[in-house]
Formats: sequence, C-alpha cells, structure tokens
Amino acid sequence: MRKFQNVIVRRPCRAMTEGITSGLYPGRPDYETALSQHDAYIAALSECGVQVTVLPAEEAFPDSCFVEDPAVLTEKCAIITNPGAPSRNKETVSIEAAVRRFYPENRIEHIVDPGTLEGGDVMMCGDHFFVGRSARTNAEGIRQFAAILAKYGYTCSEVKLEKVLHLKTGVNYLERNNLLVSGEFTEKAEFRTYNRFVIPEEEAYAANCIWVNDTVIVPEGYPAVLAAVKQMGYRVITVDTSEFRKLDGGLSCLSLRF
Ligand code: GLY
Repeated sequence: MRKFQNVIVRRPCRAMTEGITSGLYPGRPDYETALSQHDAYIAALSECGVQVTVLPAEEAFPDSCFVEDPAVLTEKCAIITNPGAPSRNKETVSIEAAVRRFYPENRIEHIVDPGTLEGGDVMMCGDHFFVGRSARTNAEGIRQFAAILAKYGYTCSEVKLEKVLHLKTGVNYLERNNLLVSGEFTEKAEFRTYNRFVIPEEEAYAANCIWVNDTVIVPEGYPAVLAAVKQMGYRVITVDTSEFRKLDGGLSCLSLRF
C-alpha cells in the first residue's frame, strides 16, 4: 500500500547537544554520530517509495531536527502547530516555508495562542486523529485542532497523558488496525478496538516505530518489538537512533510523512 509520497526531515544542528532532555536516557548526543544516524534514517525512508526533502540545519533551535512537532501534515491540509516548549516555538517559521511548497495557501492552517500543540502528540489513524493532552499540548490547542480537522471531514479525540513526553512516545499506529502500545497506553479504553502489541517495559522506547508505505522502520536494539512487527507481516528496516534517544526523540519525531 502506498499512502505517503513525501517526507520532510531537517539535518541535526551542532546545538542539538543542548537540546531538551528528560534525562531518561542519559548522556548528551554525539553530533557526528547523530549525523551518521540521520544519514541512515534518510536512506531508510528513501527505500520506502517517498521523495525525501532534506532541510538545512537550524542552529538557533537545538531540537529542530524533530520536525514532527511544528507541523501536522494530512492529505487535505497542513496544520502549523504552536509548540508548547518555548525554545521550540519558533521552529514553525521555517517549517511553514517548507510546507508551502506542498500545500496551497488556503489549505495551510494554524494553531494560535493561547492554544499549544506539538505534532508528537498527534496520531493519525485513517480519518481519525488521537491527540495527547500533555505538558506541550493544551486543551485550547486541541479544541482549535479539532475545529480545523472538522472542516476537512476528519475527527479527533483527546487522550490524557500521565507520564510520557508526547502521545507517540508510547503509542503508534502501523495501519491495518495494528497498534504498538506501551506503559500508560496499554489499558486505555480508546485503543481496545485495535490489534495491540503490548511492548515490554524494557523496550518501551521502541513503541515509536513508523509505518511508511507498508515498511515499518524500527529503532535498532529492540528484539521483541522487531519480532512482533515482522510477525505482523511488514517489511522492516532498523535504524540506530541512540543519539536522538538522549533527547527523548524517536523515529517519528525526525520526519513529517505525507
Ligand atoms: N528533545 C525533544 C523535545 O523535548 O522536544
């Protein structure tokens, strides 16, 4: 199945060593290693039948390689978000410029103050969008997001987050009704209709896999998740994300897929 034609990524900047981190995965990223891992990530995406647009590094924004947060791109519209992390809020400016190459003016929407929303809190399941209410995404941001989606015939529902940074830190949709769930999302009623693979605690980071045109990219080093995704019947590519993990970043955070 081919659904995505395009992917946008941004090269990590040297300042990524100063990026936001919870400290859950200790250490600071090694920049050169991060660049190599980013190269491998781009190569993996390129094998999935998408055109990859690589944006230049933005030194003013240490976390700017995590392009998923300043925008949500759907088949019908682009939504420029309003990131709740102050140091990331203006990442939207250059992302909007990049997105304009792909969407007409009247299909580019915005989340505005006092609403905040980050794309990492948005999980698209067909025409329905789950949105995490988190430290970065507030009730007003979700209200605006739902109103925008409704204009385009999409639906939306809120998922309250208790522990993790973003919704997709702990739950990811792999199409064909398959969901990877970990931690606080394991028992949530809203996900019970999906075929759920419950991630063992020691592999929680690997809940963040991405589906790209029937290939699933899985972070390197998580054998139980790798086996489960293969068992679901997908072609699998693994990519080492150790340096991005130190900033709580995963595979989905590093790209916009549309
Ligand atoms: N370091 C990724 C984030 O906190 O947004």
